[in-house]
Formats: sequence, C-alpha cells, structure tokens
Amino acid sequence: MTHAVTSQVVILDYGSQYTQLITRRVREVEVYSVLLPGDASFKRVFEENDPTAIILSGGPNSVHVKGAPSVPDGFWEECEKRQIPVLGICYGMQLIVHCLGGKVEGLGKGEFGRMPVVDIPTHTKLFGEDIEPQNVWMSHGDEATVLPEGFKCIGRSEKGCVVAIEHETKNLYGLQYHPEVTHSEKGMRTLKHFLFNIAKCERSWSMANVLEEQIQIVKEKVGDTDHVICALSGGVDSCVAATLVHKAIGDRLHCCFVDNGLLRYKEAERVMEMFKGELHLPVDCVDITEKMLSELKGVTDPERKRKIIGKEFIECFKEYKKTVEKKTGIVPKFLVQGTLYPDVIESCPPPGSDQKHSHTIKSHHNVGGLPKELGFELIEPLRVLFKDEVRRLGKIMDVPRNFVARHPFPGPGLAVRILGDVTENDALETLRLVDEIYINAIKEFGLYDEIWQAFAVHLPIKSVGVQGDQRSHSHVVGLRAITSNDGMTADWYPFDPKFLQEVSNRITNQVRAVNRVVYDITSKPPSTIEWE
Ligand code: XMP
Repeated sequence: MTHAVTSQVVILDYGSQYTQLITRRVREVEVYSVLLPGDASFKRVFEENDPTAIILSGGPNSVHVKGAPSVPDGFWEECEKRQIPVLGICYGMQLIVHCLGGKVEGLGKGEFGRMPVVDIPTHTKLFGEDIEPQNVWMSHGDEATVLPEGFKCIGRSEKGCVVAIEHETKNLYGLQYHPEVTHSEKGMRTLKHFLFNIAKCERSWSMANVLEEQIQIVKEKVGDTDHVICALSGGVDSCVAATLVHKAIGDRLHCCFVDNGLLRYKEAERVMEMFKGELHLPVDCVDITEKMLSELKGVTDPERKRKIIGKEFIECFKEYKKTVEKKTGIVPKFLVQGTLYPDVIESCPPPGSDQKHSHTIKSHHNVGGLPKELGFELIEPLRVLFKDEVRRLGKIMDVPRNFVARHPFPGPGLAVRILGDVTENDALETLRLVDEIYINAIKEFGLYDEIWQAFAVHLPIKSVGVQGDQRSHSHVVGLRAITSNDGMTADWYPFDPKFLQEVSNRITNQVRAVNRVVYDITSKPPSTIEWE
C-alpha cells in the first residue's frame, strides 16, 4: 500500500476485544496504523509495512501454553537493528517478558476493572511527566513474576503486580493495563508519549491526505475511457465512496439507487434529492417496488425474504449494467463498493479454535453484495478506513452532516422489520409512519447521535384497545433503540420514560392502525438488533 504517510504503526493482534480500538486511537492522533494478525510473517511486518513503531495487543491466551501466539522469528533482533520501539499491552507485555527470558505465571490473583497504578518512579521513559498515581483499566489473569534482564518495573498495582515495565537501554515497553480504553485516565497521554516522544511518529494521517491519495489511485486504475458503476444504498459508505470516485472520474461514474419498495418514509425522494441536488452525483433511481412486492407476497420466513430481495437486486443491477452500456456504448468495467477496514482485517482466532487466523466475519450476507460472475473489477476507496473516518471523509467532501451521521439501515429494509408477510394489512405504510414519528422525536429530543440505531417493528399481532371512545382491535408496534460500536454487540438505550410516553402518544394518536406501543429492552446477545 502506498500511503502518503510518513509514519506507520503496526499493531499485532493477539485477539483482544480492544485491538481495533488501539488502531483507532493511534489514527485519532493522526498517525496511520495497520492491524495485522498476531501470526503475521516477518516479511509482512517489516518489509511490507516498514513500521515506525510496533504495538503488541492484548489477548485471551496465556503465553506459557503450547501454541500460544507469538512474534515471528527474528522479531526482537530486527526491532533492535532498526531501532523500532515496541509497546506490549496486556498479553503483549507478557509476550515481551516471556520471549526475552522472564517469567509469566497464572497465580490465580487476576485483576479486572478499574484500579490505581502506584509506585511510578520519578524518571521513566514511558510515563514522561505522568508520575502521579493513576486509575487504569485492568483485565488479566496471568502476571509477570520475573522480569527479563535489563527491564525494570515502573508501576505496580495495589496488589503488588507488575503493571508497567521498560528496558533500561532498549526501546521496549510494556503495560499490563489497557491505555486505549477511556477508563484508563492517562492512557491516551501515555500512548501519545510513546508515539510522539519515544517513537518520533509524525502526524501524517489526515482525511485530506486520504482523499487526495484515493482520488489518485482511482484515476490510475480506471482508464480514460472506462466506465464505472455504483449501487447507492442510501447509507453513508456507498455515498462517500461514490462521491470520491465522482471527484476522480466525473460522469463516467453511473450510480443506481434501487427503490425496492421496502424503504423508509419518503426515503427514495429524500436521498435522490440529496444525491442530485447537493452532491451532484449522476444517479438513476430504479423502481422495482411492484416486482419486489409480488415476489414477497405470502413469504414469512426471514431468510427466504432476504434471498428473494437479494436476487431481485442482482437482476435489477444486471439490467442497469445493460442500460449504462446502451447509453455510453461501453460495457462498464468497474464497480464501486463501500467496503470498510473492519470488513477486511484478519483477527486472531479465539484460543482453542483450530483456525490459524480468521477474517472478521461481516455480520450479514449483505443484500447489495454482488456476485463475481457480473464480471466487475472492484474499486474500494474506503478499504483502509473505519466508520468514523468515513464520516470525516464525507464531511470534507461536503456530504451533508445529517447524512453522514445517519443510523445504519439493513439492505432488506423494512422487510425484516415487518414480522410475517410484508404485503399484508398495509404493514409497510403503517410502519413507515410509525418509524418517521419515532425517529423525528429522537431527533427533536437531541438523542439521535447518542443512539447507534433506532427503528420501529411491525408485529403480526393485534391487541384490544380504546381509540376515540370505541373499542379497537389494532396492531402492536415495537420500538428499538440501541447503543453499539460495531453492531456485533449492543445495549438497549435507556430512554427517559417521559420520552417514551410522548412517542407512544404521538404514534397512537397519529397512526390509526396502531393501538399499542412496546419498547424492546433486550441487549445483543441474546437478541439480535433486528427482529428478523
Ligand atoms: P443483527 O440483527 O444481526 O444486526 O443484530 C446487526 C446489524 O446488521 C444490520 N442487518 C443487516 N444489514 N443486510 C444488511 O445489509 C441484512 O440482511 C441485515 N440484517 C441485519 C442491522 O440493521 C444491524 O445494523
């Protein structure tokens, strides 16, 4: 990868749940970082990535167990030869101790949660000025009981465990706690001190650089007469990717927005207006509502719904390819996809699994993913970015703020939010109205940005109520709102009861078909975010 960056931090992943967070923390201070699996080869670490500094992540293994992940042969010698500073975090620190001749043991003490670090000497390389006791986030079972030659302990826990080490002369450091989590009060300061004062990293990772570089890459890849197509979903990723490619090749980009009949209230009109009016993207809206709903008639199984929607989408896209060919006289060769970094990084497998290392599994058989036989070459300008970085990139390309901050929306749309047959009981119309009232209220109360995803669900049950002095037998809708980092796990959002009361009143007053509103108070796991 040829990034316009002058410093690059390599993070070796040993399987901690915080590894992606370390990578993002480093990028937040404008230093580019890449995440490699803990078993990455010597060549991959040093030759392909030329690191300015290396961070060894935490992980669930014990270093003394047979087969525990480690660094490649020749690692320590190469770091010393090239003067590359190494910081080990949690398992990473234990790996330093274990590999260099010290001892790590599981003494059954274990330390979990927030606790103070004490006994920090006045002069340390790693803490710089931060010699005051500080609260940190700890999560370890094993501990370093004997340090390798040349290392000294520069911080202990209240129980007396070694929680920070450094080598007297070499650039090797270890922290038993997690500086990357916000519970570690001065964690970010320690990380910055490591990056800027010890490793002398330069701040060269900015979205302006990424934009410029990715535009250049697209220009080089796409020939002067080639045409490119892109399926816009109405989500942030495809929109930002298309906007970038449009800047590179102009109207040789052809975007297609599919109204599959399962979109939210006025969604097609609103996003088309934004694409055309504000971003000036060349977009065609293809309406397949009628076909889609006729295919979905009578279908209640969620996976069948997904399959049908996916198939119709592909059919539609094949047609679109022909349309572009007819219009331009040239078969479009490239396809833009909004693939993100978390979709491509390889993670350390859990201990005990037989895998070597696994690709992060994308949560879904994404509707919108297109099969290989369509014969496109891919353009993926967001492949190196995390979601928050995509939002920042969108912002500097003037993608409207209310658009870049949008909650995610699933490819199969309202079909997985209407339990049962989507074509019955005016369910789509009812759900659109309820969802609109709910989301508008969330925005009005200033809660939209605190919530990762919020939506309404149409339930296949009716309940008895009293509406306008009359007994009614109408539908029940569920409301869901969750907080999450990546959609893999989630907590339900604790709305103020006053908010829920207000929303429930609005819904039952304005949507005739609904006489009962319930709020979903389940986390993921055990639930999923969507109801189907
Ligand atoms: P679950 O329901 O699995 O959802 O907890 C996690 C995230 O994925 C979205 N989701 C989907 N996205 N196609 C998609 O493109 C799908 O079939 C699909 N199902 C769920 C969901 O909205 C949440 O953000």
